[in-house]
Amino acid sequence: MSKRVLTGDRPTGKLHLGHFVGSLQRRIELQEDKSYDEIFVLLADDQALTDNFSNPKKIRNNIINVTLDYLSVGLDPNRVTFAIQSQLPALKELTFYFLNMVTTARLERNPTVKSELELRKFEGGVPVGFFVYPVSQTADIVAFDATTVPVGEDQKPMLEQAREIVQKFNSIYGDCLIAPEILLPKNASGNRLVGIDGNAKMSKSLGNCIYLSDNEDTVKEIVMKKMFTDPLHINVSDPGHVEGNVVFTYLDAFASDKQINTFAPEYKTLDEMKEHYKKGGLGDVKCKKVLLEVINELLSPFREKRKYWEDRIDEVYDILYNHTKKAVDVSNNVASRCAKAMGIDYFNDKNLILGEWKDWLSQK
Ligand code: TRP
Repeated sequence: MSKRVLTGDRPTGKLHLGHFVGSLQRRIELQEDKSYDEIFVLLADDQALTDNFSNPKKIRNNIINVTLDYLSVGLDPNRVTFAIQSQLPALKELTFYFLNMVTTARLERNPTVKSELELRKFEGGVPVGFFVYPVSQTADIVAFDATTVPVGEDQKPMLEQAREIVQKFNSIYGDCLIAPEILLPKNASGNRLVGIDGNAKMSKSLGNCIYLSDNEDTVKEIVMKKMFTDPLHINVSDPGHVEGNVVFTYLDAFASDKQINTFAPEYKTLDEMKEHYKKGGLGDVKCKKVLLEVINELLSPFREKRKYWEDRIDEVYDILYNHTKKAVDVSNNVASRCAKAMGIDYFNDKNLILGEWKDWLSQK
């Protein structure tokens, strides 16, 4: 069976290192993996609008920012199809039918929706569009016959709901839709990156990010002046802690031993550097400088690619246009298949509606 990937992001802001570790890196691997026939990445602007409906400008601007982020980390527009969700009518069509396959009680139990509701505290009640976004996300996935959805742990409940909706749909209307599998991050941490302040999650709303589009000066400022280390490590000679020390968390996430050895030749490995820090005698400034080199080595090819695409922004627009057009065709096909399975494709087959009526008439 052909393997097809679908995943997506809400274009509510530029992407940061947390996105790189949590999802972009995996997508780049998948694009190299020839066992996947197609990879679709959805710019989920409709979903972003469910809680930003009064500010479409923010979403509009971020469609380009996020696309530039994708291109700059090396997602290849010849291999990956980037589609803008709102421009795919089939998704809205499928959502409307899928809404019948789920109860309000089931949606209320969705833990991701629950925690998002707590976070957002919608004044004056929860917008229905937001409440039902897991259903629309199901449409996103099945409209591409996706077999594989690479996402973080937080999206697990969404995939469970999608599978339930697919099962229900298929049990009523016959085998029509593919039940998608989730592809979780490889390690136990769920590839979640802590913020520069040591907060559990790097997140735009917490203001603790390093953005993929940050320039060298900005990254320097963040690492040298703002990054949380070990509050008990006051003098260089003090023994230090590496657990919970963001500099070391990031070195773990981004640095190879070879890089450590290049930027701090007195150590062969990161472990050796950690040992020295724990024993005492290694200062934060020095560690931060090593980290800065490592981050810049990661980001500098991204910066070059971003510059390349920024200089060709009309081409970026054309990519979005052509890719979305392709996605319209793919998703329309699936929606037609569903309409046929449901027996509501009245104008494809005159006999379907008239023939049955004639039968009914003759039986009266
Ligand atoms: N809900 C996802 C997020 O917040 C974004 C998304 C929208 C998505 N549609 C999707 C992810 C379809 C996977 C598949 O990150």
